[in-house]
Amino acid sequence: MKKTTAFFCQECGYESAKWVGQCPACRNWNTMVEEPVRAAAPKSGAASRGFAGTSQSHRPVSLKEIGGGQEVRVPTGFPEMDRVLGGGVVKGSMILIGGDPGIGKSTLLLQAAANMAKEGRSILYVSGEESLQQIRLRAERVGGASDTLKFYCETDLDDVRETVLVEKPELVIIDSIQTMFSAAVDAAPGAVSQVRETTGVLLRLAKETGTTIFIIGHVTKEGTVAGPRVLEHMVDTVLYFEGDRYSSYRILRGVKNRFGATNEIGVFEMRGEGLVEVPDPSEYLLSGRPAGASGSVVTCSMEGTRPMLTEVQALVTRSSFGFPKRQAAGTDLNRMSVLLAVMEKRLGIPLSEYDAYVNLAGGMRQKEPSLDLGIVLAVLSSYTGRVIDSGVVAFGEVGLAGEVRQVAQAEQRVQEAAKMGFTTCILPKAGLSKIRAPKGIKLLGVRSIGEAKDLI
Ligand code: TYD
Ligand code: MG
Repeated sequence: MKKTTAFFCQECGYESAKWVGQCPACRNWNTMVEEPVRAAAPKSGAASRGFAGTSQSHRPVSLKEIGGGQEVRVPTGFPEMDRVLGGGVVKGSMILIGGDPGIGKSTLLLQAAANMAKEGRSILYVSGEESLQQIRLRAERVGGASDTLKFYCETDLDDVRETVLVEKPELVIIDSIQTMFSAAVDAAPGAVSQVRETTGVLLRLAKETGTTIFIIGHVTKEGTVAGPRVLEHMVDTVLYFEGDRYSSYRILRGVKNRFGATNEIGVFEMRGEGLVEVPDPSEYLLSGRPAGASGSVVTCSMEGTRPMLTEVQALVTRSSFGFPKRQAAGTDLNRMSVLLAVMEKRLGIPLSEYDAYVNLAGGMRQKEPSLDLGIVLAVLSSYTGRVIDSGVVAFGEVGLAGEVRQVAQAEQRVQEAAKMGFTTCILPKAGLSKIRAPKGIKLLGVRSIGEAKDLI
């Protein structure tokens, strides 16, 4: 068979016959690399139809003709993870867990596997990264010993496929997709074409046998191996495991889910004995708040269906250069710059002469517009040096005219604030009358940032 090469985008997997400087799909520059394409032509028939599998009808059907009941969900033993998955693992689905190396992906899946194995489910953990001894040490640390949880160190995908067909596990974990190798593609493990091919084979295996397959994918910034984004469109569910390397908290975030809502998050803490769930994230996000410091206010944003209280910190200092410095950690820098401009124009504060730094405490990353009011108040507090009372929580979207606009699920946010012991909530006036205030919290509606300024 004649071998040919093509150019693949390392970022999104786009395939092009000729080299281009900028990927036409994801618009990233210098991401195209030359790699051999699949040597054998895809087989026709069920196997090449991907997820269609063999048991599906090969003619168009109406909804009435489609049989099958509810999808079967298996709990992972981690309610935090189940919520992100939409209520447990769907049988026969393929789930990608991406994240930076060392963030805890292997630990998370090993613990989830151990939990499910304790319920008597047969699980095969395929590792291409670690030796059996290394896995044993980790499993002993997190208490993962179980008869139905088996380990297999292999990188040859054909062997893995054979093993799955023989052992018939209910669930397979591939750690990681970047170490897997298929002889059908003449490229090194981790190359875009190799990662796509191996994922394709696993996808067909999942749909043919009804096995649930978890794949781990490292996110790589250097671009030497293909990242999980190449695979996002192929799998059913994409979760990212993220966190600050220097903090022990980890967030599992759903970014795609064919069987549930996205944007849900699960919070974990990495401890000596493995990952432990954090069922009440507001509590940890607020722990260690400075007392009596200016430039700090608590805001409430929604992560999926869940309200979360986060501390916004701002530091405003007179600029020593002509060009003021702006820096945002955990939130959008452009959004922050717009808010500073709105404050300058509408409140008459000369922020263009000041450097400004905004930070979401606890290593959170949020972009929700409801953060706006918190950012404005934190900046204001740092500028004036007036301390905002520690019992205040503030949220609302800020428009270019300095107006404070309504945000969704205001009542849930207020309830969360009340639950965490906050006594005052500054929020958009619009829609305020519809909110039933829980006991112990005073609601102060504002129409503009000028009105909010007068409250602190
Ligand atoms: P790991 O799951 O190997 O990361 P990944 O698979 O995403 O590359 O996690 C590695 C880190 O987690 C490592 O720095 C050590 C830490 N860790 C703990 O703190 N406690 C534990 O019980 C375990 C198993 C790991
Ligand atoms: Mg690992």
